[in-house]
Amino acid sequence: MTSDREQFLREMGLGPVWKMRRVSAPLPVEELATPIPADHGLLPDSARPSEPAIAATTSLAPMAWDELAATVAACRQCRLCETRKQAVLGVGDVNADWLFVGEGPGAEEDERGEPFVGQAGKLLDSMMAAIGLKRGQGVYIANAVKCRPPENRTPAPEEIAACRPYLERQIELIKPKLIVALGRPAAQTLLQTDVKIAAARGKLHDYHGIPLIVTYHPAYLLRTLLDKAKAWEDLCFMRRTMKPQQEG
Ligand code: URA
Ligand code: SF4
Repeated sequence: MTSDREQFLREMGLGPVWKMRRVSAPLPVEELATPIPADHGLLPDSARPSEPAIAATTSLAPMAWDELAATVAACRQCRLCETRKQAVLGVGDVNADWLFVGEGPGAEEDERGEPFVGQAGKLLDSMMAAIGLKRGQGVYIANAVKCRPPENRTPAPEEIAACRPYLERQIELIKPKLIVALGRPAAQTLLQTDVKIAAARGKLHDYHGIPLIVTYHPAYLLRTLLDKAKAWEDLCFMRRTMKPQQEG
């Protein structure tokens, strides 16, 4: 093990034994009994295959941050609105070079209105610190779904599809230089394809011309000792990918 890697593991706060009181264990994806109403009014290629793209384009595409934030706060486009305390849009620098995308808010995020503030968030902060990044400074953090899935279950495909236009608009506004998808739901949302993290990591993907890297979700890393080393490789890959761009 290199000293850098040891340093990383220390910075991640990862001793030989990892203890967590509670993490959001992925559960089997549930099928929604009720279809999403087809009146989202957001971007094309969204959750409404039956909707004409034109109508969708007109309402969300021009939205600035204020309007987007108000729309998300009041959103009732999927059933997650029924159990959330508040929608969690995202946090950070709206002109960020780096965009990290997680899965969905957990209990603490739902309570505080900010993504990644619980245990997984602490690990994400440490992972970012290991490559010289700090929350809010050149970094924006968002989630695939803006409302907390009950019992921290994995968001259903319909919920992710309903929420995706918000993430798409966030990306349009931020124009990041690199997107990091944390875990499978984020990767699948952004790449619009079936993704297995083990196969997708270590490669440079493309999100409408923006480089995208897939890595493990911090909550998964908290449970999975073996993949910490792979996460370190992924962080190095992110840093290498950004360096030439930043120098150029
Ligand atoms: N896990 C996520 O995917 N997002 C959060 O905001 C918190 C935990
Ligand atoms: Fe709306 Fe997204 Fe919340 Fe569903 S998860 S209610 S689509 S903001």
